[in-house]
Amino acid sequence: LQGFFDEKVLSGKQVLLTAGPTFEPIDAVRGITNISSGKMGYALARACRDAGAEVTLVSGPTALTPPVDVRLLPVQSAQEMYQAVLSEVGRSDVFISVAAVADYRVKNRSEHKLKKGDAVPVIELEENPDILATVAGLPAAPFCVGFAAESQNLLDFAEQKRQRKKVPLLVANLAQHAMGADSNEVVLLDDAGQHPLPAMSKDEVGRAIVAHLARCLNR
Ligand code: CTP
Ligand code: CA
Repeated sequence: LQGFFDEKVLSGKQVLLTAGPTFEPIDAVRGITNISSGKMGYALARACRDAGAEVTLVSGPTALTPPVDVRLLPVQSAQEMYQAVLSEVGRSDVFISVAAVADYRVKNRSEHKLKKGDAVPVIELEENPDILATVAGLPAAPFCVGFAAESQNLLDFAEQKRQRKKVPLLVANLAQHAMGADSNEVVLLDDAGQHPLPAMSKDEVGRAIVAHLARCLNR
């Protein structure tokens, strides 16, 4: 793997990634979100950078240190992430969708803080755009890499997702293993089949995904 990186397998490539959760406001001080530390996405951004790519990272709110030599575009909501991705995707060769995007946003969000004395609020939800499916469906789509965090039936659900979103490469992991941890155990799914990787640090998983991605691009 080391030799791979000495060769800068992604040199000259523009890579766009999303990472972290999104935050969907309920009122001025509250919101709903997904559980995501952002560690896998940031590790992958660093791996792409180390492989010679020019990297843009669209990130939801995380507690992580911004990677050096990576262009960071911070966002909060799924709609902001969608806008940021669509404005960047035209110049990208690869799109890697690691973010845990909230599937729904609050339709009846309140500008001001809700007060406890008022009636118990009813939160109405509406669906967010699917960023990965939108990018994969563009006429001049970049090479798209998706993630699937499932809590059961991992490989079936993940392969269904890969086909539904029409992405050539999908990284499947169990939510219970991945969430918040510094390590991960993933299976790469592509047209050739399933490629299980051993459990290792998220930095190592990131480098292994980059090595596989580079092979896909050169195929
Ligand atoms: N994704 C996205 N935009 C969304 C939802 C998901 O870009 N609105 C991306 C994620 O970044 C990930 C992939 O789609 O790469 C799969 O996300 P996931 O939540 O597992 O799939 P969903 O299609 O939302 O299905 P579900 O949550 O019901 O499993
Ligand atoms: Ca989802």
